[in-house]
Amino acid sequence: MSQPAVSVTQLTKVFPVTKHLRLRRKGEKRFVVAVDNLNLNVREGEVYGLIGPNGSGKSTTVNLICGIFAPTAGSIKLDGIDLRSLRPDQRVDAGVARTFQNIRLFGDLTVWQNLWVAWRDDESEQGGRFSSWFGTSGSRRKRIQSILEFSNLGQRANDLAANLSFGEQRRLELARAYAAKPKLILLDEPAAGMNAEELQDLRDRILFLKENGVTVLLVEHVMELVMSVTDRITVLNFGREIAHGLPEEIQQNQVVQEAYFGSSENAG
Ligand SMILES: Nc1ncnc2c1ncn2[C@@H]1O[C@H](COP(=O)(O)OP(=O)(O)O)[C@@H](O)[C@H]1O
Ligand SMILES: [Mg+2]
Repeated sequence: MSQPAVSVTQLTKVFPVTKHLRLRRKGEKRFVVAVDNLNLNVREGEVYGLIGPNGSGKSTTVNLICGIFAPTAGSIKLDGIDLRSLRPDQRVDAGVARTFQNIRLFGDLTVWQNLWVAWRDDESEQGGRFSSWFGTSGSRRKRIQSILEFSNLGQRANDLAANLSFGEQRRLELARAYAAKPKLILLDEPAAGMNAEELQDLRDRILFLKENGVTVLLVEHVMELVMSVTDRITVLNFGREIAHGLPEEIQQNQVVQEAYFGSSENAG
């Protein structure tokens, strides 16, 4: 529990501002520092919250960790392994899984098939990747079945992902991330649009992941969820850390309240 699973050191991402090039006036900023010198140390099995106002660099941090973007500077390690030289698919093999702020599933595959393609072999399953669709090994079948139960999607196994309700699609996204047997799951606003019951279910699932040794980085605006499920939190504003600590410390932090809770228009 005390071993650092994820260590992010002086992570920085600068984007060129390409939009409205012709409208840009002299002296205007040509770059946006989306993530600015960020340090994170997440312990194994911890649920770590990353919060902050809209545009504060949360999704960019997730994208840097899973390899969608290359950092401008800084390093990212998982269990001491430097992830920077690994492609996104190699990072999945190294144990990094994620969900997206906007759901991304294979709509024309069934629920079962979405989980099947997300499957990641480990050393104990020789040849699993080459086993045919119908020849899916017993242990793999069993585990997919248990993931269907974990996500309460058992009744939907043979339905196309595109035909699921919004809540079911969100559950399938998390199930798919879990099917990759991750060490680390990155959740980018998983509670968006959820009702109270769905929130409670999501909370239970995050705690289940934690109990099963998965480390979770949770980006979320729904404070009720963040405060009830995270062990520690880092708060970003304009790409920079403005605070880190226990949920109750963050809740009482003046700087955070001004930046984040101060204006409701800011949150989003
Ligand atoms: N691909 C990109 N190209 C240029 N600017 C980007 C890109 N992605 C994000 N940004 C900018 O980086 C900043 C942080 O964005 P983001 O990480 O999406 O914030 P958050 O997830 O906290 O709302 C914003 O100013 C945003 O406009
Ligand atoms: Mg975002």
